[in-house]
Amino acid sequence: MDVSAMTKKELAELIAVNAAAPDPALMAEAAAVRDKSYGRRVFVRGLIEFTNRCRNNCLYCGIRAANGNVRRYRLTKDEIMECVKEGRALGFSTFVLQGGEDMYYTDDVLSDIVYSIKELAPDCAVTLSVGERPRESYKRLKDAGADRYLLRHETASEPHYKKLHPDDMSLKNRIRCLYDLKELGYQVGAGFMVGSPYQTYEDLASDLLFLKELDPHMVGIGPFISQTDTPFCDMKNGTLELTLTMLSLVRLMLPKTLLPATTALGTIDSRGREKGFDAGANVVMPNLSPRERRKDYSLYDNKLATGAESAEKIDELRALIENAGYMMDMGRGDSLVNIDRKDKKYEYKQ
Ligand code: 5AD
Repeated sequence: MDVSAMTKKELAELIAVNAAAPDPALMAEAAAVRDKSYGRRVFVRGLIEFTNRCRNNCLYCGIRAANGNVRRYRLTKDEIMECVKEGRALGFSTFVLQGGEDMYYTDDVLSDIVYSIKELAPDCAVTLSVGERPRESYKRLKDAGADRYLLRHETASEPHYKKLHPDDMSLKNRIRCLYDLKELGYQVGAGFMVGSPYQTYEDLASDLLFLKELDPHMVGIGPFISQTDTPFCDMKNGTLELTLTMLSLVRLMLPKTLLPATTALGTIDSRGREKGFDAGANVVMPNLSPRERRKDYSLYDNKLATGAESAEKIDELRALIENAGYMMDMGRGDSLVNIDRKDKKYEYKQ
């Protein structure tokens, strides 16, 4: 199916038809496309959630600044280095430093951490996921050794973006960040939640068209899951079925992108990740954060934290992957999408 030739209207119709029950043929085609690009390998990344402090107030997110019910924490450089050492010993070769937008981690502080990780583990990839920063900051972090950057665009539809975020945030700035990151030579990950409040099939079609234009190295997609202490506490969760449909469509749109079966997918369905692989996904990101902090990184309710998604249970994860018919790959797992440093201008239109 040539998804990349479809109009927004055609994509929205295709999403609607598959929303409640993804066509097995669609998923099989997406899985075959993934196999052709990457084989049956599933790449693993060690996720270090190093701060749950955040200046933002995204309406869906459990660690939003206004949530007074979160026990806030920040890891010191030494604590982060301990996580990396533990991950190295377990065989990880990608470390993802993820956190809220916590300005305690200035360019100096964060650059020093990135540099030290690369010094300790030069053969490993460092991925940052610390939100919106000025281009100059992204440049400094790149110069310190960061290889990759995850920043979900959350939704490519301007009116929908406004319903999910307070007025001081803008889709325009988020997209500016993504293009800056690409131009600076990062491997870049964008992405969105499936079934977030007020989302329409047209919005999801816009996400696909935006991704086609951005051509990211990675795409993070997971279902929206409500969190008790947020304005969206009573909103319905995204479904497994629609998430699988979107994974397959992203895979068909971007054959060479890296596509995680996310923790959120594993949270709404006990076999969510395995089903994600069969829909075209090929990455998992087990948690390497200090055990006693994990429950405080509460983006949404019931977030998995102790099973195969915890890095120390890597053998459990290997078994899960192998039982699903795949192979676990602990290499760097760089994206096959080219790194483009050419000055690509922002061309995406609604
Ligand atoms: N449900 C699912 N995903 C969420 N995220 C934040 N809050 C939620 C939620 N309630 C996702 C966002 C963010 C990523 C780190 O986690 O897409 O980019």
